[in-house]
Amino acid sequence: MKELPSIKQLVPKHVAIIMDGNGRWAKQRGKARTSGHKAGAEAVRRAVAFARRNGIESLTLFAFSSENWNRPATEVSLLMELFMSVLKKEVVKLDENNIQLRIIGDKSRFSKRLQKQIAQAEEKTAGNDQLTLNIAANYGGQWDITQACRTLAKKVEDGDLTAEEIAEEALADNLMLSDQATPDLLIRTGGEHRISNFLLWQLAYAELFFTPVLWPDFDDTTFAEAINDFAQRERRFGLTSEQLTMLMQDIDTRTEE
Ligand code: IPE
Ligand code: IPE
Ligand code: MG
Repeated sequence: MKELPSIKQLVPKHVAIIMDGNGRWAKQRGKARTSGHKAGAEAVRRAVAFARRNGIESLTLFAFSSENWNRPATEVSLLMELFMSVLKKEVVKLDENNIQLRIIGDKSRFSKRLQKQIAQAEEKTAGNDQLTLNIAANYGGQWDITQACRTLAKKVEDGDLTAEEIAEEALADNLMLSDQATPDLLIRTGGEHRISNFLLWQLAYAELFFTPVLWPDFDDTTFAEAINDFAQRERRFGLTSEQLTMLMQDIDTRTEE
């Protein structure tokens, strides 16, 4: 009899997450939105540990969209500060865990200090290969496609490329994350069923998983549920759903540290 596939084969290579619901989580507790963002940072740690333990190669988290600048100034500055302090605190741990950190998005709008910190964190972890953690900050899918077009147009301007040579692969090669597996699972927490200008091109064939769970409550159980859903929908390998359910018991939901 042929051996059953391993859990590794059922797990998506690249998971992207729209981490939504921090504000509502705080409101439900009668607290300021900012406390929701702080609790959200804790959920990020859990999700990263889960991804690493279960052999996911890339995890891309939507932390701040191009449109989020329109939020109240106090909330924006709290988010920037949180970003700075988490970066400072976590980078050593990420490095110890063999995790490579990348920030994707238009970094030019961040303070010089934050830009420098980002560059240092990326440099420090550049050689790590257990998991690539991409944080989308000041990211927008439309921005991403636009910047890729600009890069190609520049090449045409410089005479290194002709308009006819612009094929889908040429554009894809100049988008964020082009060096990693294409995201095969998108999770959105917080109950909304939309993409909110996240990875527009890259999600073309991703399985979509929407959960009402608010981001600060997102834990290993919900993550495992999303993986299970993905495996059932996408990667049956000719197995029955009972066999898949049995394999899913190998998902490691042990809480770390
Ligand atoms: C997601 O939570 C975090 C960011 C967009 C920075 P929200 O802040 O959007 O929370 P809700 O959607 O208002 O509950
Ligand atoms: C999407 O959440 C962006 C992030 C999670 C960073 P939003 O709360 O900003 O999206 P909308 O406003 O519901 O579309
Ligand atoms: Mg929201």
